[in-house]
Order: sequence, then structure tokens, then C-alpha cells
Amino acid sequence: MGLTIGIDVGGTKIAAGVVGTDGKIGARAFRETPATSVDATAAAICDAAAELIADHEVEAVGIGAAGFVSSDRSTVLFAPNLAWRDEPLGARVSEVLKVPVVVENDANAAAWGEFAFGAAKDVEHMVCVTVGTGIGGGVVVAGELLRGANGVAAELGHMRVVPGGHRCGCGARGCIEQYASGSALVREGRAQAESGSLSAAQMLSVCGITDPAELTGPMITKAAADGDPCAVELLDDLGRWLGEALASFATLFDPTTIVIGGGVSAAKELLLKSAQVAFEKNLPAKSNRPHPRFGLAELGNDAGIIGAADLARRPAPAAEKHR
Ligand code: BGC
Ligand code: NA
Ligand code: ZN
Repeated sequence: MGLTIGIDVGGTKIAAGVVGTDGKIGARAFRETPATSVDATAAAICDAAAELIADHEVEAVGIGAAGFVSSDRSTVLFAPNLAWRDEPLGARVSEVLKVPVVVENDANAAAWGEFAFGAAKDVEHMVCVTVGTGIGGGVVVAGELLRGANGVAAELGHMRVVPGGHRCGCGARGCIEQYASGSALVREGRAQAESGSLSAAQMLSVCGITDPAELTGPMITKAAADGDPCAVELLDDLGRWLGEALASFATLFDPTTIVIGGGVSAAKELLLKSAQVAFEKNLPAKSNRPHPRFGLAELGNDAGIIGAADLARRPAPAAEKHR
């Protein structure tokens, strides 16, 4: 197969790219995500892809979607942070574009991109977490994406870390997504500012705002990179939650490499360091087992596009058989 298109559908932006078998992106197209309307989202995805198809010979399209995707890679069963419910996204898009379309979980797609072409290209076992609006997970075991019986394995963001904790978009309480995602970062930042903390007031002024409601994740990340103490502490906390969760994931999957990606990973060393410290400290049997390698995603925001495009070239995994 020659060129395929990969499309990463995020909470705010739809990013599409034409990708070669070498994992390199040629042309790109962007649209805003009309987050509340599934019809408008499908239309925007088609629109971005059609723009690229007009100028390129494309054989298939892969879509990375932020939700639980069916094992036949056609339907978004559920999305904790978006409106999709049993949404036949693959069929809708392929009807318009007239090319085969596969839908993948967004974090699976990003993990696959890092596995095939990025931070984990030289290993066979990896755990990848994407830290953005939500927390996504992608697990590669012996060179294969872990899918589970129904396609919805590796939903790492919904591992419970606090019994009875914050309510999550998935309906459960205390998921790691509620403590270590970009949304959690903003919630904590706003809460501190609203509590009248002086250091939080300082952070708002560094961000150029006065109303806590205007605070965003990228603002906090930038303030932290510039050394603002409140923002640094918020990211440090997030990294600690994440590192502790990663220690649990390492006990489950025994990866060679752990990769941290997603929007919040733009905080780079700030996040990586506190996550790694918490990880090393909390890894069970830490003195008596090999520790995985720990690193940031190498493909940055392109991992999802590249991974979805590459997965679009591969046959759908066999469905679970009954004996
Ligand atoms: C969803 C996952 C998704 C992740 C990142 C989570 O809330 O359950 O399916 O991969 O967010 O977008
Ligand atoms: Na996943
Ligand atoms: Zn959850």
C-alpha cells in the first residue's frame, strides 16, 4: 500500500495528514472539532480528508477517536468526553470518501505511531499513556496492540486510583483520568485560584488573566515552563499521580519502554521527572526487577496521525472466536 491518511480527532482540533509507509507526513489539513454534534464532527472529518484526497492517491483512511472503539474498528461505542454513543463513524466516513476507513482508539493510534516510528521503535513491549483532556492508554505486547475481547482493552485512564474519588466522564469514580489529565490540572488550578491562594493569584497574572474560569491547561504548562511556582507544583502533583499509576501498569504489562505523550507532555522534563521519581519509588519489587525505560513521545502531536495511518494499512484483527 502506498499513501494512507491518518486523522486524529481531538477535543478541540481535527488534524489529518497524508502518510507514507515510512511514517512521514506529507500534506496536512485541519478543522475545528464541533464537539457537541456527532453529525458535524463526521462532516468535518470528511471535509479534512477530502481536501487531502483531492491532491493525493490515497488507499485508506485511519481515524483515531477518543473513545471505546469496537473490535472490528468501525464503531465508537462510547466516549467519556465527547458525544459519541454507538456511532458508526467508519461507515459514515467511508460512504462519503469512497475509500476503506478504519477507526481506532486515539491512544492506541498514538501508541502504535510511537511503537512503529518513534520512542519505542526498537522494542516489542510498550505502555504508552497520552495525557490530554483525558488519559488514553495504548499497550503493545510482543509487537501487537493489546485489544482485549471487544477492542476496548488498555483504557488505562479509567483505572481507579481513589475509591469514592472524583466522578469521571465514564460514570465511575476515582479514575486516574480525574487526577492526572489536562482537565484535572485545570480543575486544580482553578480551585486554588478560587480559594484565594496568593501563589495561584500570581500564576493567573503570569497567564495574563484575572478570572480563574479563563485558566487553560496550555497556560499552566507555559507558566510552569517559565518557572511559576504554583504552576510547577500543579504539574509536579500531576506527574506524581501519573508515575504512581504507571508503576501499576508496569506490574501488569512488564513493558521494555513506557512512553508519555499527549498535549500535557509539552511540559516535558517537568512532567517526566516527577512522574519518573514517583514511578521508581512506587514500583512493586523495585529492587528485584528490571525497570522499564521511561521517556517522552518522540512524534509529539503527530503520533496519532502517523499511527492511525499505519494501522489503516493492516488487516482488521480477527474477532474473538467461540470454541
Ligand atoms: C477515553 C479513551 C481515550 C482517552 C484519551 C479517555 O477518557 O476513555 O478512549 O483514549 O480519553 O482521549
Ligand atoms: Na486505548
Ligand atoms: Zn473513568
